[in-house]
Amino acid sequence: MKRTVVLIGFMGCGKTTFGEEAARRLLMDFVDMDQEIEKRQGRTISRIFAEDGEEAFRKMETELLTECCHAGGTVVATGGGVVKNPENIRRIRESGALTVYLKASPEELYRRLAEDGTRPLLADTAGEERYKRICTMLAERRNLYETAAEAVYDEDGKTVSEILEDFPDWLAKKIQKV
Ligand code: S3P
Repeated sequence: MKRTVVLIGFMGCGKTTFGEEAARRLLMDFVDMDQEIEKRQGRTISRIFAEDGEEAFRKMETELLTECCHAGGTVVATGGGVVKNPENIRRIRESGALTVYLKASPEELYRRLAEDGTRPLLADTAGEERYKRICTMLAERRNLYETAAEAVYDEDGKTVSEILEDFPDWLAKKIQKV
């Protein structure tokens, strides 16, 4: 059984898009944590934030993460805020899963998130304000992503289709190495 891979990184870095493609190509299972939480809760992430608050969402996230990182042979797309809780990182490490940071520039993240209406933490922003919010949040979290990761995939200078092509092979080598 292949080693489980936990993808971390900022909203819009492609944990879902690139993770799903890698899982398909490497014949692994795929779980998107936000989608799974929405499915189990029967409501969107935005509604969970609005109705129960962020703290309640973070608890759901930690519970599901623990479950996912122990499922063998799975690519797990986490939510961008998973690194905020050191307990989450501890649980991933303890499970033996490989943590990969998908690193993208704030400019690229903004391009992908400019029209997004599904992220509660960006919902009150648009245009320049949204770009600034992304920069601020990324500055707060960058170090957490870097420290939590065992491997970093740098998206800089690559198009989305190039990453879709390249990332699965890159990941396959990382899984073999360990
Ligand atoms: C969050 C990222 C989102 C989602 C929630 C909070 C964050 O996931 O979990 O809106 O704190 O960065 P994506 O990274 O998949 O957008």
